[in-house]
Amino acid sequence: MKAIILAGGTGSRLYPLTQISSKQLQAVFDKPMIYYSLTVLMAAGIRDFCLISTPKDLPRFEHLLGDGKQWGVSIEYRPQPRPEGIAQAFLIAEDFVDGGDVVLMLGDNIFSGGDDFPRAMAAFRGGATIFAYHVKDPQRYGVVEFDGAGNAVSIEEKPAHPRSAYAVPGIYIYDHQAVEIARTIGPSPRGELEITDVNLEYLRRGALRVHRLSRGFAWLDAGTSTALQEASAYIEAIERRQGVKIGCPEEAALVRGFLTMAEFEALLVRMPACEYRDYLRGVAAEMGRLGHAR
Ligand code: DAU
Repeated sequence: MKAIILAGGTGSRLYPLTQISSKQLQAVFDKPMIYYSLTVLMAAGIRDFCLISTPKDLPRFEHLLGDGKQWGVSIEYRPQPRPEGIAQAFLIAEDFVDGGDVVLMLGDNIFSGGDDFPRAMAAFRGGATIFAYHVKDPQRYGVVEFDGAGNAVSIEEKPAHPRSAYAVPGIYIYDHQAVEIARTIGPSPRGELEITDVNLEYLRRGALRVHRLSRGFAWLDAGTSTALQEASAYIEAIERRQGVKIGCPEEAALVRGFLTMAEFEALLVRMPACEYRDYLRGVAAEMGRLGHAR
């Protein structure tokens, strides 16, 4: 399966930080925000990426991530001249998707815990699979309503009066129909091609699966300065407590076998002396000892 990471937008809520770099390149504790989405997808076994951002920010992503070879993956880049909606990603990356299944992920969504995504991707057999997560403030998100049997019956984008506390996080799995649907939906009152409208069309076609994420799962928002700070504090607390990093693409590449141990070690040689490199050295040593059982 391939993946599109959408990392554009104006980032206006993070001004003036976004004068220096785009929102998805801001630090979340010890690494750039984009590392977290990339790592979630790599850990699920994805190796083909298309990253979409603004023409201004795209070179900065290319500088940071390159063509992905260093991590045993492929990363292509496509510009989105104006933020005309999340679903526009399918039109921009149509040739990349090439009629296959694709995961769409928002570059500002941070997840930690569980194996729900790899399992959902492995179990995917067409249609669309989206996720639902219990939140305190559902009115800020796409909100999914379930019937008594646990089936999704409605999805609303930022409803003033949410019908449930289940928000839809920014990671979605689609089959080939997504491109055609994105072409037929019109812009919403806020002038965007809404991902919720794509999901609603799948629901209408009887082809939408909604997977409820468990309580132990963390979905963090980094949309405002306060939320960014809180996300950093959360990641720091978990990393310190467990001694494992969240959102480390090098580690995911080694664990998934995208890189051999020799390639991984060559990557470390090119890194400056830093805590990040020390951590990766520890990962390599531990994997050597455990025989790749990490
Ligand atoms: O985070 C999950 C939520 O994301 C979902 O629950 C909502 O259903 C979905 O509409 C979206 O809501 P937001 O209002 O949070 O989306 P926002 O406009 O902030 O865009 C999310 C990310 O996607 C953000 O990092 C910028 C990027 N983006 C957004 C648009 C509209 C683009 O790169 N291009 C775009 O055209």
